[in-house]
Amino acid sequence: MAYECVVTGATGYIASELVKQLLEKGYNVKGSVRSLNNKEKIQHLINLGAAFPGKLTLHEADLLSDGSFDDIVKGTDLVFHTASPFVIRGIEDPQIDLVDPAVKGTKNVIGAAMKSKDSVRRVVLTSSTAAVVKNRKGPGNGSLYTEEDWNDESSLTESPYMYSKAQAERAAWDMAKEAGLDLVTINPSLVLGPVLTSRADATSIILMKEFVENTEGSMLPRQVDVRDVARAHVLAAEVATAKGRFIVSHESTVSTKFLSDILSEHFPQYRFPAGEDTPSIKTLDNSKVRTQLGLQLRPLKETYIDMVTTLIQQGIAVPVAK
Ligand SMILES: NC(=O)c1ccc[n+]([C@@H]2O[C@H](COP(=O)([O-])OP(=O)(O)OC[C@H]3O[C@@H](n4cnc5c(N)ncnc54)[C@H](OP(=O)(O)O)[C@@H]3O)[C@@H](O)[C@H]2O)c1
Repeated sequence: MAYECVVTGATGYIASELVKQLLEKGYNVKGSVRSLNNKEKIQHLINLGAAFPGKLTLHEADLLSDGSFDDIVKGTDLVFHTASPFVIRGIEDPQIDLVDPAVKGTKNVIGAAMKSKDSVRRVVLTSSTAAVVKNRKGPGNGSLYTEEDWNDESSLTESPYMYSKAQAERAAWDMAKEAGLDLVTINPSLVLGPVLTSRADATSIILMKEFVENTEGSMLPRQVDVRDVARAHVLAAEVATAKGRFIVSHESTVSTKFLSDILSEHFPQYRFPAGEDTPSIKTLDNSKVRTQLGLQLRPLKETYIDMVTTLIQQGIAVPVAK
């Protein structure tokens, strides 16, 4: 019998890849979306559904609306909660724009799973290394960030996105522990890699589009491939012994020069920013996901090339010709 699962925020960059992998594995998937009328956001899901007839259904739900996820979650086996705003620029009110949807949304989804405890055997929450790391350099004394670490330094005024992720993950653990709900979190760093939609408003996509178009040279230095992040979610659901948090990221920081060199070699017809030659610093310990879930991370070279190839194919990015 095929498992039935929910993916919240199915329209998102990471969730779209997760939905694809779940469908490929034979799961029945219920995707939550904010609006079924927004064809631009859901068209690629409709196309995916057409490739797996009868396996994908879409349902409206909003993070801020109490009880919004109850009916979707009812009777399902697994819940993947990915929906949450990932915004790092142009934030007007961090409480309203980030913390409320992140925290209230998580409480709503965990609450729905608790109401359906007879059927839901595990919730997999998309958290972030933003809920783990405190600063760029590492925890100090030559040690590495592990799943034991919590970002308790961010606030509404200091890195509010990171704050929203830490607050949401804490709320999830508090509720799950109290209710005896089986919760596992996936904590990725900056997620890059191929895109499945023609939407350009996800932060991961914006950062790479700006780099490719030579309008901005910045990039977050800890990174991981979207296919590996989605796979980690699936493994977290399938491996019975999976417990707690899982950092899903390459262990060392990478420079924008590293990115530039790879793109310049693979796409010699385009001019990319030279990038900054910052040192590669090992700051994370990713051994838990490797040993307990058996996940091997693909090299970032593949991630960058596949991402830029799809950005060009989808018409999202137009690189500068030489
Ligand atoms: N991308 C990364 O580098 C990265 C790294 C670590 C963790 N994460 C986490 O991964 C998750 C997905 O991120 P992403 O990069 O895939 O971002 P994304 O493409 O921007 O997706 C965000 C999703 O959340 C949904 N959402 C936002 N506000 C909502 C609301 N009020 N009600 C219902 N849905 C709402 C969006 O719906 P719409 O489509 O309607 O806007 C979208 O489906 C987030 O939890 C993020 O914090 C991302």
